[in-house]
Amino acid sequence: MPAPDVPAFLYGTAWKEDRTAALTELALRHGFRGIDTANQRRHYVEAGVGDALRAAVAGGVVTRAEVFVQTKFTYVRGQDHRLPYDPAAPLSTQVAQSMASSLQHLDTDYVDSYVLHGPASGHGWGEEDAETWAAMIRERDAGRTRLLGVSNVSLRHLLQMEAAGGERPAFVQNRCFARVGWDRTIRAFCAERGIVYQGFSLLTANPEVLEHPAIARIAGREKATPAQVVFRFSRAVDMLPLTGTSDPEHMTQDLASARLALSADEVRLIESLAG
Ligand SMILES: NC(=O)c1ccc[n+]([C@@H]2O[C@H](COP(=O)([O-])OP(=O)(O)OC[C@H]3O[C@@H](n4cnc5c(N)ncnc54)[C@H](OP(=O)(O)O)[C@@H]3O)[C@@H](O)[C@H]2O)c1
Repeated sequence: MPAPDVPAFLYGTAWKEDRTAALTELALRHGFRGIDTANQRRHYVEAGVGDALRAAVAGGVVTRAEVFVQTKFTYVRGQDHRLPYDPAAPLSTQVAQSMASSLQHLDTDYVDSYVLHGPASGHGWGEEDAETWAAMIRERDAGRTRLLGVSNVSLRHLLQMEAAGGERPAFVQNRCFARVGWDRTIRAFCAERGIVYQGFSLLTANPEVLEHPAIARIAGREKATPAQVVFRFSRAVDMLPLTGTSDPEHMTQDLASARLALSADEVRLIESLAG
């Protein structure tokens, strides 16, 4: 199976409904090489991502092997009535059915990353999660995904997952709030174990940062926007950021943020700007 490196930025496809295919293809044309989706019709149109991939490959923009495709398994309580599996089936069957449906939507025979959208309970990593994770590992072993991840997790979830002896995820994907040091404890947990931390809602969760004078100062010097400073910062602390922009100019700016210069002092300052 081809193994594209994990790209430096992920394009998020949530909440785009019938614009999913056009915006995802546009993101690929702008240079994004990582796409995040989910088999959760409530918030995503995974089949639209498949349409975009097909169009981008047919148009010579990318090959399938050049794109890092990430999707998710979502428990029934995170779904609406448009389920990609039989809710009465055991969880391991639901995972297999959801993956089969994802591969059909995405018109591919493998994804690069398969993520558990969120644990069954906010309180801790339970038996349902262990069963689901084991089923996801079987999908990986069968070659239907290269890598595995978990999303919307607390430190408690991760510690309990580890204590349960389960295989370590390659990715943790969380909403990243500056007021808790940009998810400092989870990022430290990930860094110690070689897990890649994926941060989403970097802009929408942190309006106070975007308006902060220190960010405005750096943005002014770099002839950039506050949003670009935040994305550049996220890279400096080894995060893999997601953007969900629908604006072509922002697509260009988000990718171009890699070129901004941030000193070590500025990285430390931003890291503790709000918490
Ligand atoms: N695991 C989960 O549970 C979960 C939950 C939520 C999201 N996600 C994933 O993360 C992705 C991103 O979600 P998100 O919450 O970060 O994004 P989002 O809600 O789509 O919001 C991004 C916002 O930032 C703005 N933006 C982006 N680049 C900008 C720039 N350069 N300058 C100014 N504004 C800019 C966008 O506005 P414009 O459109 O005008 O640019 C948009 O309002 C989702 O699509 C999804 O794939 C995962």
